[in-house]
Amino acid sequence: MQAAFFVVYRHEGILAYQNVCPHTGAPLEWVPDQFLDASGHYIQCAMHGALFRMSDGFCLQGPCVGQRLTPLPTKICEGELWVKLV
Ligand code: FES
Repeated sequence: MQAAFFVVYRHEGILAYQNVCPHTGAPLEWVPDQFLDASGHYIQCAMHGALFRMSDGFCLQGPCVGQRLTPLPTKICEGELWVKLV
């Protein structure tokens, strides 16, 4: 079963995105919980290799350049991470 969303930890804080590639709507990962490229600096779609900035989900390379992953609101509540699915 594919995850509905995933979370990345950045200097800016915790960011969550829907697990949906803007190119075809496919899930981003083929291997469970593997969302980053080999460098660990970009979110990568396993289907066609699109690369997305972690900080804002903007696609820098691949068939959906200029599009973005869909961000999800997050908050920390009593030590737990809450992600609002929209
Ligand atoms: S489905 Fe993600 S790059 Fe094509």
